[in-house]
Amino acid sequence: MSQPRPSLVRMPEWQALLDHQSSIAQVHMRDLFAQDEQRFERFFIEAAGISLDYSKNRITAETMELLIKLAQSCQLPQRIDAMFRGEAVNRSENRPALHTALRNLSDRPVHVDGVDIMPEVRDTLARMEQFVWRVRSTQWRGFSNRPFTDVVSIGIGGSFLGPKLVSAALKPYWHGHLNCHYVANIDGSHITEVLRHINPETTLFLIQSKSFKTQETLENTRVARDWFLHNGGSHESIAKHFVAVTANTDAAVEFGISADNIFPMWDWVGGRYSLWSAIGLPTALTIGMDNFRALLSGAHAMDKHFHSAPLEHNLPVVLALLGIWYGNFWGADAHAILPYDHYLRGLPAHIQQVDMESNGKCVTQQGARVDYQTGQIIWGGAGANGQHAYHQLLHQGTRLSPADFIIPLHSHNPVAHHHAILFANCLSQAQALMQGKTADEARAELEAQGLSPAEAERLTPHKVIPGNKPSNTLLFDRATPRTVGALIALYEHKTYAQGVIWAVDSFDQWGVELGKQLGNEILDQLLGKAVPSPTHPGPADSSTEGLIRLFRQRNNNYSG
Ligand code: F6P
Repeated sequence: MSQPRPSLVRMPEWQALLDHQSSIAQVHMRDLFAQDEQRFERFFIEAAGISLDYSKNRITAETMELLIKLAQSCQLPQRIDAMFRGEAVNRSENRPALHTALRNLSDRPVHVDGVDIMPEVRDTLARMEQFVWRVRSTQWRGFSNRPFTDVVSIGIGGSFLGPKLVSAALKPYWHGHLNCHYVANIDGSHITEVLRHINPETTLFLIQSKSFKTQETLENTRVARDWFLHNGGSHESIAKHFVAVTANTDAAVEFGISADNIFPMWDWVGGRYSLWSAIGLPTALTIGMDNFRALLSGAHAMDKHFHSAPLEHNLPVVLALLGIWYGNFWGADAHAILPYDHYLRGLPAHIQQVDMESNGKCVTQQGARVDYQTGQIIWGGAGANGQHAYHQLLHQGTRLSPADFIIPLHSHNPVAHHHAILFANCLSQAQALMQGKTADEARAELEAQGLSPAEAERLTPHKVIPGNKPSNTLLFDRATPRTVGALIALYEHKTYAQGVIWAVDSFDQWGVELGKQLGNEILDQLLGKAVPSPTHPGPADSSTEGLIRLFRQRNNNYSG
């Protein structure tokens, strides 16, 4: 590991950025565009099939130089290399983070504790290939010898959001007879709605859990197994219908999954970075293994770029630095992900987990409390729908939330002029955010509409749009397996690059544990199993206690 570095805010590069921010705080992007005809070309980069226009940001060439210097002082290039080499970049769990090995299509070995993990990665891909082929060619059939028509993936968090996103993103590549469903939540309505529409004879369940300990996943799996057994399936036929992906083989076997039906996961892959592993099986089953490999190849192309491109031309690094610029120097708490592509509508939810679970941390890798802001609130949704919902706040609200507009140049479904209209909407939103509308422009517009000067004056403040709101525009040819792979990898690497600068551990997630721990204690109380005692005091607050009492009273002393 590298030596502990000085606190971020005491670095001279940080101070230089603070000074620089003060010097350009009043500059409007309109003027920056007016002063520089080359601004678009100056702030435009491409890699792995993705183009980034970042000219609509509150930046000058000097801003980028200062941000790059900060990244260098934080040893970003060395830390990127350390991740690819398999160093234990997840220090609190003393593990490497090697999702990049899952899509390493080169012959470069990757070592963990002196052992090359690539043969195991390739073996697993070969096993996936075989399994996918058997199911899709209808060789692997259900207990009544009928081919499968439905795949139900049961998993949550990283074992759900990534595969679900990719399945939806690559819907145009679904072929064959398989439909894919996802069950995640521990809310009976979720699994009930899925089970309502499927036939046990023709359904394959994929149980996706790295730990095989996650309450939501195990409970949903029990319900699915009972439903299967009560609807014609037998204990012997479970092996034909239940397959698991996990790093905890023993627990899966103990649960009743046949050892032959278990695909491996590894400690060195974080859940939210696992869609590239066998956790991607629901996707692979629907799009086929060739397309799944193309997804990996897109991510691999982005990996190579991230590993080797100079910082100033490095797409994930530039996005990361812009996020630091707004989050740490302009007070932005949020960042919006706005895909203008129906198939990519799940992207904000997946990136939300990747980013917020990775960088929502308040201590450094060394355990010191940070004295600066870290991960931002990631939110968003599909355009143009959002324009008729939350974009108002982006245009005229008091909070700053930079946005990423993401759009393909070609639609999979060229209906009438839809794509040109969608594209125009995307560009006009970014333009409106940047340019805004001045009081003079607003007043002139109102007067041109025939309003009296007094009336125009009264309405002018409402019509002023401040502008100077930053955004990035990300373009790609079409949402193919390759570009979707590159796009997701781009955000993964952006997240890591920010984590390096903030000096946090981007690969652990201790914060989610307390809720799980308390949840189990509260469940015992709801079930009336645990009566508060000196050794088991129960909820220490009257609110939780009162709510538990209310639940039990209204459920006739519920006992499960
Ligand atoms: O609760 C958060 C989390 O630990 C995520 O990081 C993870 O992706 C998810 O739960 C599911 O975990 P598992 O795959 O072990 O069931």
